[in-house]
Order: sequence, then C-alpha cells, then structure tokens
Amino acid sequence: LPIVNIGICGLGTVGQGVWKHITRSRAKFESRLGARLVLKSASVRDLGKKRSVRVAKSRLTDDPMALATDPKIQIVCELMGGTTLAKDVTLAALRLGKTVISANKALVCEHGPELFAAAREHGGHYFFEASVAGGIPIIKALREGLVANRFRRIYGILNGTCNYILTRMEREGLTYPVILQEAKALGYAEAEESLDVDGWDTAHKASILTHLAHGTWVPTKAMVVEGITQITQADIQHAKESGFAIKLLAVIEQDEKTDEIAVSVAPMLLPRTKVLANVNEVYNGIAVTGDVVGETIYIGRGAGQDATASAVISDIVDAIALLLRGNAALPEPVEHNYPLAKPENL
Ligand code: NAP
Ligand code: HSE
Repeated sequence: LPIVNIGICGLGTVGQGVWKHITRSRAKFESRLGARLVLKSASVRDLGKKRSVRVAKSRLTDDPMALATDPKIQIVCELMGGTTLAKDVTLAALRLGKTVISANKALVCEHGPELFAAAREHGGHYFFEASVAGGIPIIKALREGLVANRFRRIYGILNGTCNYILTRMEREGLTYPVILQEAKALGYAEAEESLDVDGWDTAHKASILTHLAHGTWVPTKAMVVEGITQITQADIQHAKESGFAIKLLAVIEQDEKTDEIAVSVAPMLLPRTKVLANVNEVYNGIAVTGDVVGETIYIGRGAGQDATASAVISDIVDAIALLLRGNAALPEPVEHNYPLAKPENL
C-alpha cells in the first residue's frame, strides 16, 4: 500500500483528538483509502507536558517549521492557532506543494486569499472544514451540496463557548465568568478567550461562510461585531418569560436589488418557535436559505475535541483521496467584488 505521512502541528485539544481517532480507526481509513496512514510526527510548545494520547518521544518536536518542511510529510495539519507562526508554517508547507489542513478560522479569515493563492501556485491544497461550526460539515454543504443555489440569507450560532455560556446562564442562573472557566476546562474556548466572548471568533467564521457563499471576503472591520459580555441574568430571564432565547448570531445577508452584502454578529432574541432558539449547550446551528433548495438547517457540536477532530479527519480523508487518485480538487467559489454594507448602516 502507498504510505501517506501526516504531521500534526499542535497537539492540544484538537490535535490530540485527531491523533486519538486516527489511531483508533486507522484500519477503517486504510481499507477505505487503500493507503497506509502514518502519523509521522507532532509539534508542541512544551515537550514535557502530559498528553492524553501516547506519542513516542522520537515523534515529538518543538519545531513546527521543521515538521511543516519535512520532505517525508505530505499532509500538515495546522492545529496550533494564532495568526503569526501558524501563517508562516502554513505558507512554508504550501510553498513546498504540500496539503495543509487547518482548524484555524482566524488565519483563514485574515489571510485566506494569500493562503489559497499559495496552494494554487505550488500545486498543494488547503482544507479548512474544522474552521467553522466544529463537527458540522458546513463548508462541504456550501461548497458542494448547495452549489446550485444563491444565498440571500445565512444565519446561525457559530460559537460553542458562547452558546454554552448563554444556555447555562438561562438554565442554572450561573454568572458568565464561572461558566467561561468551565468552557475553558472542557476545551471549547479559544486560548485567547476574548475571541469567543467578544464575538470575533463568530465574525471570523461568518467571514469564511460569506466567502464560500458569495465569493467575497468581508473583513471583520466591515461588520458590526458585538459579543455576550454585556448580557445579564435579568436579560436572559426576561427573554425567557417572553418566549424568546438570547443567542449570539451571525447574520449574512445579500440585498436582492443591490447585491450588497451585510454581515453582523450580535446577541439577538429568537422566538422559541424557531429551531435555532432550541439549539443549546456547545451545539451550533446554521440556517442557510438558497434560492433553489429553500431553507436548510444544520445542527451539531460546534466545539470540543471529538467534534472538531471529526471535521479535521474528514479533510484528511479527502486530501488523501486527492493525493492518490487525483479526485477533482474542491471547487473554489467564483470571486466576486460585491459591494459591502457600511457597518454604521447595519
Ligand atoms: P490548544 O489546546 O491551545 O492547542 C494548541 C497546540 O499548539 C498545543 O499543543 C501547543 O503546544 C501548540 N502550540 C501553540 N503555540 C505554539 C508555538 N508557538 N510553538 C509550538 N507549538 C505551539 O488549542 P486547540 O483548542 O486545540 O485549538 C487549535 C486550533 O483549532 C485553533 O486555531 C482553534 O481556533 C481551532 N479550533 C479549536 C476548537 C476547539 O473546540 N478547541 C474547535 C475548532 C477549531 P503545548 O501543548 O505544548 O502548549
Ligand atoms: N472557541 C470556539 C467555539 C471553538 O467555542 O466555538 C470552535 O471553533
């Protein structure tokens, strides 16, 4: 069988999940792909840290760049986070024609065009299913399953940490900082937690979905972005008594007449009769309305080790099929320069 060597940059919450599930289900993946999957090495910051997966010392490095440029490694999973070293490592691998798989929504949002161009130019591929909505295959849905559609409206809960906090505040009357600590311990929150609670993580994800749906990059500075830190217990209970739930929503709309695209992120009142008002805990939910299909709704765990590993592994399997059999490369959205709504008008 041909051998495919995989390197994992970042063996934290997500990286350990990927390592664990590939190790557990290796035989299934190998018989499906007709290839041997080798987890060749993983990079970390602290070589002495205790991990939940067993990795031989000889396979661990504290040099992600060496891993990403190792000529034996064909697929690099960037699961470190951040936008500086992660960007350098990603570009270095792509420039060597490797395939890079990422869960890093901040990086895709801020540097997507440069990364996609590097992949195209050097014959590599860049996959990022895990960057939006954890285990929900929403990138595949927009890119493949819904390709027949134009999208006038997409809205959804895209941050597991915030949804977990709002749910627990409503059900248990706990305060927000206490629940945030729990979300961190469960591996849901970003290393920099303000990305979650101030709405930026949702904005990064909304930007990625907008590009997939409309072929237009909307930077976060062209959005209105508000997080959940100002939501009080009184707000939540008042909403509940009135038949509503407060959810942090991303809303992506395209004006039917002008084609102008407006993206906003804010806590909003959703009537309980709406499906997404009943999406709770770490779950995400996305409602996508296409002009051909009508409304479709996707629900699933939006953060955490296993859900995110599920999405990364789906990319690994696609990447291997592409490497071995030249299966059609994922179609990229056709680029458009649609006008963007001014944040002050949103
Ligand atoms: P994490 O638990 O903090 O893991 C980060 C890993 O990268 C750790 O192994 C860390 O090493 C390593 N690392 C960080 N900075 C490094 C550096 N400068 N040099 C070498 N290694 C470095 O983070 P995570 O939750 O797995 O998230 C990883 C990525 O996935 C992020 O982009 C995040 O936004 C995204 N994501 C996370 C989730 C989730 O639910 N957690 C879901 C979807 C997407 P040490 O272990 O030695 O510290
Ligand atoms: N911190 C993110 C969240 C991880 O809570 O949704 C998943 O992208």
